Amino acid sequence: MKVMVWLLSGRLRSGAFLLLACSVLSAAPFAAGPPVAGLATAHPLATQAGMEILAGGGNAFDAAVAVSAALAVVEPYGSGIGGGGFWLLHREHDGFEVMIDGREKAPLAAHRNMYLDDDGNVIPGLSVNGALAAGIPGVPAALVHISRRYGRLPLQRSLAPAIRLAREGFRVDKHYRKKAQFRLAALRDDSAAAAIFLHRDEVPAVGQRLVQQDLADTLIDIARFGDAGFYRGARARQLVDGVRAAGGIWSLQDLAAYRIVEREPVRGEYHGLRITSAAPPSSGGIALVSMLNMLADFPLQSLDEATRTHLVIEVMRRAYRDRAEYLGDSDFVDVPLARLGSRAHARQTGASIRLQQATPSSTFNGKAIEAGGQDTTHFSILDAAGNRVAATLSINYPFGACVVPAGTGVLLNNEMDDFSAKPGAPNVYGLVGADANAIEPGKRPLSSMSPTFVESGEGVAILGTPGGSRIITMVLLGILDLAEGNGPESWVSTPRYHHQYLPDAVQFEPGAFAAGLQQELLARGHELKPLDSPYGNMQAIYWVRRTGQVIPASDPRGSGDARVGLFSRN
Ligand code: DON
Repeated sequence: MKVMVWLLSGRLRSGAFLLLACSVLSAAPFAAGPPVAGLATAHPLATQAGMEILAGGGNAFDAAVAVSAALAVVEPYGSGIGGGGFWLLHREHDGFEVMIDGREKAPLAAHRNMYLDDDGNVIPGLSVNGALAAGIPGVPAALVHISRRYGRLPLQRSLAPAIRLAREGFRVDKHYRKKAQFRLAALRDDSAAAAIFLHRDEVPAVGQRLVQQDLADTLIDIARFGDAGFYRGARARQLVDGVRAAGGIWSLQDLAAYRIVEREPVRGEYHGLRITSAAPPSSGGIALVSMLNMLADFPLQSLDEATRTHLVIEVMRRAYRDRAEYLGDSDFVDVPLARLGSRAHARQTGASIRLQQATPSSTFNGKAIEAGGQDTTHFSILDAAGNRVAATLSINYPFGACVVPAGTGVLLNNEMDDFSAKPGAPNVYGLVGADANAIEPGKRPLSSMSPTFVESGEGVAILGTPGGSRIITMVLLGILDLAEGNGPESWVSTPRYHHQYLPDAVQFEPGAFAAGLQQELLARGHELKPLDSPYGNMQAIYWVRRTGQVIPASDPRGSGDARVGLFSRN
């Protein structure tokens, strides 16, 4: 993890800057916001792309477009223009806030039983590997929309760093190698994917330059023609032909019909902190609000560590139970958001919590959900005017479906696996869903991605992380750490634990629970599942309004890059 400061001297647009090595920058507060911008992403080249756009006069929204596109190039295993995501935006001058829902949609030819055989059993791998696993991508439409509606720069400027990275290449690092090794067999199965992401059918070496000329050309089409450069015309035909040749079911109509949705974020409150987070089709915001509502009824600070940890586990269990039952795409199913987010529901659900005894999940007779690691990606941005973006983007599993329609450079997502293929049948992360998340044409699969803002009288936090279903509990632990008065370095590095209702076990990172704490949790009836490795890759920013201090932080588990830049205001 690196934390650097770019001190931009001279005019905002001059691009001249001085590098200083310190972790925090503060400056006298300005009425319009801090003169300092902060940026935290999972890859140094994406952070650099965002800084370049801010230095060129772009706002946080232009920088978000640049960072999203750059991540699509340099973290091809995590997100991409063949995928989807949620961008939470805050415009400082009028306080306007919105979630851009660029989640993938099921193709129009999709149907409820598309991953089942004649006997009604799930066909292994069909929703994970290959073109049938791919939803209709939302990232290109989201980037065009964000740039045009909220940005200051032309899309061609914001996409320029990503186009350059695709054309000139980036160097493979150890994270890339790990993910490519994990998906080696599936990547080898698709000649276009293997030609781009492997070297002679093997995982490329660290330091090898990975050039993506076709992707550069597709990005250039989007830069020039907007939506039409991807969803219509020759590029759309190339995508559909490639998908169908690989056994998929996309049509030109699917691409032409794709639309992002501007959604009202989910909001909540916890001990004076205002929470703003992702709305359905993410389960993240409402699960966070519901967990915090339950916790608000207990004197968390005065409890001993074992009781406090037990209590947090119990609220996780209950929120994830609701998730499995009620959450899905609110354009298709009636998600009872007002009820799930209410204090009354928290009191009712929390009433069964016993401080000395775990509640077996079997009590609730319910369904399991997913877990995950470091795939997918999150970034946080604050610009010098106080505009902010929290965005979590995904192609789902590492390298998505491992299919590239020939000539496009676009790696297809396998987000269809986030649907419930069959009631009771687990997905790649162990997910078993309810009707609310069944497959329907044009529907968006349920997500856990949780880009979040937290505001107090003192400051504003911007945070989020990848990690499948663990995303929501990671953000919860980050918010609880913030509520205790700790700063972003602590939120991103705090040891993690997770309960997702089913399987009925507490997962925890190596070193997260001391032996004594483990004993106390076992004594309360919890099953403990120590994990072999850490998980998550949180990227956060804290802006202390009163002092103007901007503190970015990048998860030490990843190799992200958190920076602040001081922009002159003349
Ligand atoms: O939308 C979701 O919830 C998942 N597709 C995210 C996948 C993920 O975070 C994988 N990470 N480890």
